[in-house]
Amino acid sequence: MILLDGKKPAAEVRSRVKREVERLRSLYGRAPHLAVILVGDDPASQVYVRNKEKACEETGVVSRVWRLSAETTTQDKLEDLILELNDSEDIDGVLLQMPIPDALDPLACQSLIDPAKDVDGFHPENMGRLVLGMPGLRPCTPAGVMHILERYSLSPCGKKAVVLGRSNIVGKPMAIMLSQPSLLSNATVTMCHSRTADVAAECREADFLVAAIGKPKFVTRDMVKPGAVVIDVGINRADEGLVGDVDFESVKDVASAITPVPGGIGPMTIAMLMSNTLQAYVWRMEEQGGEEPR
Ligand SMILES: NC(=O)c1ccc[n+]([C@@H]2O[C@H](COP(=O)([O-])OP(=O)(O)OC[C@H]3O[C@@H](n4cnc5c(N)ncnc54)[C@H](OP(=O)(O)O)[C@@H]3O)[C@@H](O)[C@H]2O)c1
Repeated sequence: MILLDGKKPAAEVRSRVKREVERLRSLYGRAPHLAVILVGDDPASQVYVRNKEKACEETGVVSRVWRLSAETTTQDKLEDLILELNDSEDIDGVLLQMPIPDALDPLACQSLIDPAKDVDGFHPENMGRLVLGMPGLRPCTPAGVMHILERYSLSPCGKKAVVLGRSNIVGKPMAIMLSQPSLLSNATVTMCHSRTADVAAECREADFLVAAIGKPKFVTRDMVKPGAVVIDVGINRADEGLVGDVDFESVKDVASAITPVPGGIGPMTIAMLMSNTLQAYVWRMEEQGGEEPR
């Protein structure tokens, strides 16, 4: 069984971003700049935002966090801030940390972020570009999964892949990425959700199984085809600490490769955010007439 450690490939991506930031900063006269909006004081979100700030510090990306109160932030106020950040010449990426308080409309906010600065890749234009196979900023978590598969030379080409979950941020883009007509994809994909008649039976068909449902240890040994590659996107807080959507201890002996939680897809997600921020910066600088990067 191969343990698909995400920390090493994530560190490699951050190193590449750092090298590029150093090179391009002198070419373009400034480093990439990421703006993060955090509404409310959800403890998990605070940790995620802190980890994003740390990754920015490490890679040389300038970051600034707008911390807004859940009580006083209205939809209008939040939209005004997004528009202001969209207009700001020296901001390359705008990220709204999810979830936002129930009184606010996440889709309306995400759709307002300038697609060129949409480093989370959730804007309808970037989603459309993903579906059509056009260049664009890709959602970080499924992009991190694809990166890990490539990094460990695990090709889903011609294989059956099952994605558990159909959220806009993980499940749907994941299913699209796995099924793209490209050498690193080309899987035949089934996407399961809470209304799927027999999730376990679907899972047992999978050569590649991606779990993203937010249910601790949901995927058990009996649901996994011997030799399958198992990717656990889930992050659940349990008494024993962070656990995934896969029962790692029982599944590791039947899978041919498996990601741990923590230390699997989590670090990859933040690394892909750094990569997207660099990409957004490069595209913006090129558009503003900067010298063509190598
Ligand atoms: N590693 C990372 O960096 C990272 C990033 C993002 C998310 N996550 C984690 O990934 C997990 C999923 O996140 P999310 O944002 O996609 O969650 P979400 O928006 O809550 O979506 C969960 C999806 O799972 C489906 N589902 C729920 N119970 C199911 C069941 N028993 N059988 C089959 N499908 C079921 C839901 O189906 P319906 O559509 O029918 O409701 C829904 O499509 C969470 O644990 C989250 O913390 C990790």
